[in-house]
Amino acid sequence: MRQLLVTSALPYANGPIHIGHLVEYLQTDIWVRFQKMSGNRCTYICADDTHGTAITIRAQAEGRSEEELIAEVSEAHQRDFSGFGIEFDHYGSTNSEESRAVCHEIWTALRKADMIKEEEIDQLFDTEKGVFLADRFVRGTCPNCGSTDQPGDNCDKCNATYSPADLIDPVSTLSGTTPEIRSAKHLFVQIEKLHGFLNDWTQSGTLPSESANYLKNFFLNEPLRDWDISRPGPYFGFEIPDSPGNYWYVWYDAPIGYIGTTKQWCDANGEKLDDWWKSENTEVHHFIGKDIQYFHTLFWPAMLKTAGFSLPTKVHIHGFLTVDGEKMSKSRGTFIEAAKYLDHLDPSYLRYYYATRLSSRVEDLDLNPEEFVSKINSDLVGKVVNLASRTAKFIQNVGLSSEYPDDGGLFETFAAKGSDISEAYEAGDFSKAMRMIMELADQANPFVENNAPWELRKDESKAQELQDVCTVSLNLFRTLAIYLAPVLPELAIKAGELLGEELTSWDQAQKPLTGSAVNKFKHMMQRVDPAKIEAMIEESKQVETTSTTAPLFEDSGDALAATPLGEEITIDDFLKPDLRVARIIEANEVPEARKLIQLTLSLGGDETRNVFAGIKSAYEPGELVGRLVVMVANLAPRKMKFGVSEGMIIASGPGGKDIFLLSPDEGAVPGQRVG
Ligand code: MSP
Ligand code: ZN
Repeated sequence: MRQLLVTSALPYANGPIHIGHLVEYLQTDIWVRFQKMSGNRCTYICADDTHGTAITIRAQAEGRSEEELIAEVSEAHQRDFSGFGIEFDHYGSTNSEESRAVCHEIWTALRKADMIKEEEIDQLFDTEKGVFLADRFVRGTCPNCGSTDQPGDNCDKCNATYSPADLIDPVSTLSGTTPEIRSAKHLFVQIEKLHGFLNDWTQSGTLPSESANYLKNFFLNEPLRDWDISRPGPYFGFEIPDSPGNYWYVWYDAPIGYIGTTKQWCDANGEKLDDWWKSENTEVHHFIGKDIQYFHTLFWPAMLKTAGFSLPTKVHIHGFLTVDGEKMSKSRGTFIEAAKYLDHLDPSYLRYYYATRLSSRVEDLDLNPEEFVSKINSDLVGKVVNLASRTAKFIQNVGLSSEYPDDGGLFETFAAKGSDISEAYEAGDFSKAMRMIMELADQANPFVENNAPWELRKDESKAQELQDVCTVSLNLFRTLAIYLAPVLPELAIKAGELLGEELTSWDQAQKPLTGSAVNKFKHMMQRVDPAKIEAMIEESKQVETTSTTAPLFEDSGDALAATPLGEEITIDDFLKPDLRVARIIEANEVPEARKLIQLTLSLGGDETRNVFAGIKSAYEPGELVGRLVVMVANLAPRKMKFGVSEGMIIASGPGGKDIFLLSPDEGAVPGQRVG
């Protein structure tokens, strides 16, 4: 008997579980159930990943504490998982005392091994919010190509990567203010010190070959970069014991949560942590997505190795979910939350569908709604459940034949396939396992068709034959239910109820069931109704927001107070000024006037206007040419010292440096009326 510790990645506590996450949790749950059915001792651990800036921001936006938020999210996550039949042996949180203790233990080991280095680095600091800004909370102009409103770490337009401190005109997305550069002490783990070990370990067969090959080049070409694992406070996380005011970065304590949560399970079950995390007798298996492999294949083994914990036996890495060939999208309604799915559809459908799409390779998988419907309806309902629904009722009174009848070798074929199917499960090649199981189902169905029990029952002299045919059919069904049990635990329970035994062990498929009673057939699985999928997608449609940050609208009332609202007007009053979109096609300084810029505005075609605008204190002529503005186009011309002004452009702000020209959204063209 093997002893296995299995984990799925710890989901972030800042959002709900969706069908993308479920690829991973269902995959792991299937594997764990398979191991348990095979007689292995297997413990499945997971937890919420609760630390970091994103949690604080959401908690602030919702006006409550981080602790309150993560408690609520944890409950929701666990409800979703259990709704899909995902059965953890223990579900914890990274924000636990057990996790903190292991963080300390590993830290002490890293210090002792002289793996930690301190360095001052420049970071952007939001003076209004009083926090250092993570990359994704800064936007600004790309230092490479000059595109505005780009993220803090790389440019969407030219793909340049940079540090947020290099951005031109950076803005904090938390407060809208300009952050300042502050230097702060950070702590780094020097994983380069384990270069040789990590190189060997990543090539030792622990990882899928795609990942191992990719990492190979990584090791050849450069030293491994130091890993920044601290953040200056305030930060929702654990304070570093020997560096007051600094906190461990969320990715330091996240994987440690695997161990901390195992500790909680051990304490509750009279087990010793060392038997699970420091023992040659226990295999450690991580299931993760391809987006987080670096953390699990470089940083994590480095920490485990240094602190004397077991290294992962295997890291199972999966790809990303697409729906109908495209990334999940809120606007298309394909960003489907787990809870929303459960409002409409049977979780067994998704468990089976994903199983038919999962392999041991690191590749993306697609959820195609039509294929989803046809797979469930033709495979599960049409080929598997049918074997029972068409025969059970005929032998409800007499039960199974007392001796297993001659079935032309079918049962033996089914039993013999058990080891191949088992191998495919073990390797994570669920799609192959499902294919083999459906091939068996394809052999079982002709047997029922050819022997037509519905005909046999009409002839009383054929009672024995009828019982035998139904005994075979139900036994073949039972074997399929056993093979499918890791994927479809509900079906296995219902099959067990029908036949009066629990289907819990892989070996049960080796021996047919005879002589026992057959209970009343109860409905096992409904056909998928495509209208329900449509309804689910419809209800999932949301306006896509470009930013993942919750907006914090905390505008001050100063501007309004400084200039109170004017007297009421009628619509006619409003329509008097003829406001037009115009393009600045020329802009020149006016040497005699300190405050003015001379603008040539185009209203489209040959129509131009000459306007003197008092915006010199806020704009350079060069930056104005080409942009669209809004102008009052029917203002009586006014003769000035330097020429005639034929209109006015619209701006806000108190003056001086604070003058803000109004411009229309993209798509507007010169000459259009505004109003
Ligand atoms: N909190 C980290 C993991 C810490 S592990 C010590 C994290 N959380 S997550 O909520 O973003 O993702 C959890 C897991 O779900 C990851 O393994 C991730 O790859 C997986 N998936 C999230 N979205 C996914 C898809 N759209 N498709 C497939 N898997 C996806 O990362
Ligand atoms: Zn750029």
